[in-house]
Amino acid sequence: MKPSEIEEVEIDLFVEALRLRHGYDFRHYGRASLRRRLLALQRLFGVAHLVDLLPRLLREESVLSKVLSALSVPVTEMFRDPEVFSVLRQEVVPVLRSFPRINIWQVGCATGEEAYSLAIVMAEEGCLQQCQIYATDINDAALATAEAGIFHARRLALYSDNYRLAGGKAKLTDYCRAHLDVMEMDVALRRAMVFAHHNLVADGVFCEAHLVICRNVLIYFDRHLQDRSLALVRQSLVRGGYLCLGLQESLDAYAGKEEFYPVDRLLRIFRLRADGGGR
Ligand SMILES: C[S@@+](CC[C@H](N)C(=O)[O-])C[C@H]1O[C@@H](n2cnc3c(N)ncnc32)[C@H](O)[C@@H]1O
Repeated sequence: MKPSEIEEVEIDLFVEALRLRHGYDFRHYGRASLRRRLLALQRLFGVAHLVDLLPRLLREESVLSKVLSALSVPVTEMFRDPEVFSVLRQEVVPVLRSFPRINIWQVGCATGEEAYSLAIVMAEEGCLQQCQIYATDINDAALATAEAGIFHARRLALYSDNYRLAGGKAKLTDYCRAHLDVMEMDVALRRAMVFAHHNLVADGVFCEAHLVICRNVLIYFDRHLQDRSLALVRQSLVRGGYLCLGLQESLDAYAGKEEFYPVDRLLRIFRLRADGGGR
């Protein structure tokens, strides 16, 4: 067997141990990116082979959070792909506003910047009071950062540009306090948000949602897992609810795609048909 083939066996063993011991199933994550992350994990622990980590994975509780952090990619930014937020503001929020309560489920929130961006849009459109943003992820370290709402101030310039391009109506600094090297998000935004652990692979529907934002999560999954995730998201949406995917993601291969129509095909914003069997 070639070394690369042995490495593949090691990856399978590690993934299986993670599933059997801790219940996290990474079998349907894209193989190339999974391999890269596992090799990075191996380097982080300073072990010669991935299997050298197995005893610790099985017996040391504290190893799990490091493994989950290494396997998930909590890369995000405020108002990422600003034009998406602009269309949400112009086309989606005016419809959502007509509901007495608006539930938004943000799947794969990472460190929370996207959820705070949504809260700012809702505030500027006058509907934050009626809105609840449920932001979920499997990475607990990232969720803790999201919960604190404190980000590095070196990103403020980029985030301010994004905010402006997204049709922001004021200044981003109106929603956060910048001091020393951090920016601390306004607690008024935080009140509309709930951050929680939820695993798209294993858990059920998190909430009934009028809008689901699931961006840059499905790209890490294989077809099988993308289908499962989209079915779960579909189940959570009310009739006429909206779905926003990442720019590199689509519904094209999803069996239930006919139930949706595009609000903006390029920006991956879809709406569940009112007769789509949703709630
Ligand atoms: C690249 S980030 C995307 C963050 C944000 N949505 C954005 O587009 O900027 C992907 C996130 O998906 C999360 N993730 C990966 N697998 C997941 C799963 N099975 N369930 C929930 N979240 C998951 C990761 O922990 C990571 O925080």
